[in-house]
Amino acid sequence: MRIPFSRPCRTGRELEYIEECLASSVIAGDGAFTKRCKEILERIYAGSKVLLTTSCTHALEMCSLLLDIGPGDEVLLPSFTFVSTANAVALRGARPVFVDVREDTLNIDESLCEARVTERTKAIFVVHYGGVGAQMEAMRKIADGHGLKLVEDAAQGLGATWGGRPLGGIGDLGALSFHESKNIVCGEGGALIINRADLVDRATIIREKGTNRTRFLQGLVDKYTWTDIGSSYLPSDILAAYLCAQLESLDAVNRRRRAIFDYYLGRLSPLEQELRIRTPRIPAQASPNGHLFYVLLESEEERNRVIAGMRAAGIMCVFHYVPLHLSPMGARFGFGPGDLPVTESIAARLVRLPLFYQMTDEEAEEVVDTLLSVLGEGRTRP
Ligand SMILES: Cc1ncc(COP(=O)(O)O)c(C=O)c1O
Repeated sequence: MRIPFSRPCRTGRELEYIEECLASSVIAGDGAFTKRCKEILERIYAGSKVLLTTSCTHALEMCSLLLDIGPGDEVLLPSFTFVSTANAVALRGARPVFVDVREDTLNIDESLCEARVTERTKAIFVVHYGGVGAQMEAMRKIADGHGLKLVEDAAQGLGATWGGRPLGGIGDLGALSFHESKNIVCGEGGALIINRADLVDRATIIREKGTNRTRFLQGLVDKYTWTDIGSSYLPSDILAAYLCAQLESLDAVNRRRRAIFDYYLGRLSPLEQELRIRTPRIPAQASPNGHLFYVLLESEEERNRVIAGMRAAGIMCVFHYVPLHLSPMGARFGFGPGDLPVTESIAARLVRLPLFYQMTDEEAEEVVDTLLSVLGEGRTRP
């Protein structure tokens, strides 16, 4: 493809930091670079604790462990999300309860949540689609009103805010991703954001295979031992070195991505009616990070035609999540076609345009020009 859908971000100092890490001989987890990443993230998430993890998937699994989600429990979450949001619940033997999304932001529809709460509901896992915040005041109110925990899947949300607060730092817990497809990357990686002081100690134990090794390293106990269930959720410091270089350039990366997002929006949103398309909606409280740009088309057939037309012109465009409630696992949890009409409609009609840090202005222009021409071809066909 002449213009790929995405390219993993490189900011310049990654190899230098990896060399530094190798020279230090500390390449396991929680070395000097992990500490530097943690410091940068804890400046963003002021007042919270941040633990680097091996992925957002694992950070979400840690959320379920920390909140003691287990058999008999239910957790509300959108179906329009990545499998990891639901797996974190299902792995603990709990039942994911899928809720439809809002037409505008494609985030969980807060007006539908209350009706899905039962005496078994333990938590709500909110997803900030494309780094555009979900309605967090409303979600907090519902959670507090029913004694539920609130988790933010902010896999795509680093650097974005809702009401001035960083995504992932508003609920009880948050999860970030540094997978190669995200704004800031280290190949595979993530972080757990702990916004409640009472969960911090246990989070460090769960992350260290269920041991109190962190307290041992801090000199707080004279030997370390098995104190809880847990797993190995800490990434190598080599990955943290790569990540550190990226995090130091977070603002520049997000500024560039946001500029491309704004360019797409500026050219396409005035043509919505004429072209019968829908571009992203940004609520007033949201300040997004330019993670992704999507267009909703009239039908699934039109979406597939546009993807094929763009591909024929050398430009890679892709659809996104296949609704989880329509999957074989969704059926096992009692869901099926027709249950979540907005999710089913938007997932079938959505196409994402190329968007990556190193993308040039000329490439962005070509993406829009080609899209307009592919959309025009469809219009003039008999
Ligand atoms: C909403 C959401 N949650 C979780 C994940 C999983 O992230 P990771 O690949 O870091 O495990 C993704 C990945 O794309 C995602 O989009």
